[in-house]
Amino acid sequence: MTFRALRVLKDGVNQSQLVSMELDQLAPGNVLIEAAWSSINYKDALAITGRGKILKTYPANPGIDVAGVVKESDDPRYPAGMPVLVTGCGLGENQDGGLAQYVRVPAEWVIPLPGDLSPRDAMIFGTAGFTVGICLHRLLLNDQTPDKGPMVVTGASGGVGSLAVAMLSKLGFEVVAVSGKVEQKKALLELGAAKVLRPEELELGTRPLETVRFGGAIDNVGGSMLEGILRHVNLWGNVASVGLASGHEFSATVMPFILRGVSILGISSANCPRPLREEIWKKLSGAWRPRSLDVFVNREIGLDEVRETAEQMLSRQTTGRTLVRLR
Ligand SMILES: NC(=O)c1ccc[n+]([C@@H]2O[C@H](COP(=O)([O-])OP(=O)(O)OC[C@H]3O[C@@H](n4cnc5c(N)ncnc54)[C@H](OP(=O)(O)O)[C@@H]3O)[C@@H](O)[C@H]2O)c1
Repeated sequence: MTFRALRVLKDGVNQSQLVSMELDQLAPGNVLIEAAWSSINYKDALAITGRGKILKTYPANPGIDVAGVVKESDDPRYPAGMPVLVTGCGLGENQDGGLAQYVRVPAEWVIPLPGDLSPRDAMIFGTAGFTVGICLHRLLLNDQTPDKGPMVVTGASGGVGSLAVAMLSKLGFEVVAVSGKVEQKKALLELGAAKVLRPEELELGTRPLETVRFGGAIDNVGGSMLEGILRHVNLWGNVASVGLASGHEFSATVMPFILRGVSILGISSANCPRPLREEIWKKLSGAWRPRSLDVFVNREIGLDEVRETAEQMLSRQTTGRTLVRLR
């Protein structure tokens, strides 16, 4: 059977192409998924453009997210016709990924769609929403409560950021959304932010400890922003470190940790253990589900528009979630 896929032909910049493939060209696995929707995450943008070393072999299909129905399976837990999703686990990194009409994966990666989530809903969350779910799980486990003070969300207009604003606000946290895009202020307030600031308006100071202003944070950008926020976090507050949009390095003193009991929580969605993965997807489809999912969709595109959108994402021109319609 012939199908369409975005394929990165070899290592290097701009090596992705829309191709026709045969099923037997896909990497092996126990479950074949007829894919309906995928999405574009920051990591996908790096893989598609070749600006980050995400794919481990070539040629390969990028795409760390996919949702659709099982087409063929040798595992009775995932029979043909079952609606399923896969995020992370190596999809679009060391296994042909979700930006294709068919996707073959090991059974252990497959999550039956929880609750009444449709494949499209599942991709509105995608890795971005699942990552926010891990943040909430770890923050709550480590006693983050609204009375510790507002939660800062950096890179707030992006996929992870916009979902984080809405979901933290739904759980009763006051949210300070930090975005470099002034035009996104109204949208972020509508998602539940109490305040929207530009990065330079945060005035993070330079002393090892500054006045307490925040209960904690979900940080998508890393670098000096992460360093600065840590100086302002309240006693026993937590900062979930998610991303590196502005840089992967940061420097810090131990003062917030040893004098205020502040914690940095590492968030790694790709290799999240299976039992926690299932628990988080249940919560995303239930208690943590934002009122509307459609408000997070910036664009719905076809496979032929993915390359251009990936470039836009890396130059900070996208907002929210970009869905890829595969049929
Ligand atoms: N740890 C994990 O498991 C995990 C999972 C998913 C994503 N991530 C990471 O989390 C980050 C967000 O991912 P995403 O898919 O939500 O991407 P995204 O939609 O592109 O969002 C990133 C946001 O960061 C801000 N940003 C971009 N470039 C920046 C720069 N040079 N300096 C400061 N801010 C910048 C922008 O927000 P504003 O314009 O509003 O400021 C942008 O919308 C990425 O770094 C990604 O690699 C990590």
